Amino acid sequence: MTPLDPLADRPLLVEQVRLEATDVVSLTLADPDGGALPPWEPGAHIDLRLPSGTVRQYSLCGPPDDPCHYTVAVLREERGRGGSVEVHGTALVGRTLRARGPRNHFPLVPAPHYLFLAGGIGVTPVLAMIRRAVADGASWELHYGGRSRASMAFTGVLTDLGAARVHLVPQDESGLLPLTDLVGAAPPGTAVYCCGPEGMVRAVTDACAAVPDALHVERFGAPPGATPAGEAGPAAAAFTVELRRSGLTVRVPPDRTLLDVVREVAPDVGFSCEEGYCGSCETRVLAGVPEHHDTVLSDEERESGDTMMICVGRSASDLLTLDL
Ligand code: FES
Repeated sequence: MTPLDPLADRPLLVEQVRLEATDVVSLTLADPDGGALPPWEPGAHIDLRLPSGTVRQYSLCGPPDDPCHYTVAVLREERGRGGSVEVHGTALVGRTLRARGPRNHFPLVPAPHYLFLAGGIGVTPVLAMIRRAVADGASWELHYGGRSRASMAFTGVLTDLGAARVHLVPQDESGLLPLTDLVGAAPPGTAVYCCGPEGMVRAVTDACAAVPDALHVERFGAPPGATPAGEAGPAAAAFTVELRRSGLTVRVPPDRTLLDVVREVAPDVGFSCEEGYCGSCETRVLAGVPEHHDTVLSDEERESGDTMMICVGRSASDLLTLDL
């Protein structure tokens, strides 16, 4: 693996933890030796392995042109799966965490105008996109909803980036974002970027039904109707997997996931959501034909067959060879 391989694992030192809003902290991460970090583009995320071993994905939200730091922000979710509570409840400054990435499944495409729609902590990738839009002199507007003003992170920096273009909509003051109206009023050719809770993503997806190519979304959860992990569908078949680096071969039966079987022989393999939406189990395919069931990869990426999400993905060929 090269040092810039996004699927490689690297140490990151937690230099700073800062309160950004109620229940939201940012982490500033750096190379332990002070070196430059792999470059990234707005929309990218990293997979961070927390001290407990839990892996979580966080969008990069600092300045993309800072070569020595990554910044991520974490919302404390009491009823989440535990990662955010660990981040908020652990003294992390000075600790070194392992990370993979950055990887980008939510890239900013060229457009004459950007309509950014952010809900809650979904503002993080959008913040990086707006920094880029400002640097490029692009036309943009942001509509950012949150439970309350105090819960909304980065409002100061966003306003500094373009006060007239930033519309803050705290729900307890102004209700919900008028998503359908905003999409309906967007000029032709607008690229709509949406990151937020599933209900918001669904509403924006519906509003963009007539112009699906204009829509770019990032989800925090599996979309409705996604195949749950372990249920590959009635046509699921057994297949054989060669783990090239480990020198092992395993058989995946129809009723088990590829990730499950791989973990028995490679317990360190990274994963998080197990539902095909977070990207943390992305694995390079060296041979064979992957059968994708995730919502991370684009059509072109699926077509290329270079990588796959092994938590939900299977194999269309009897033998699949993975870089594990
Ligand atoms: S673990 Fe989240 S995509 Fe596989």
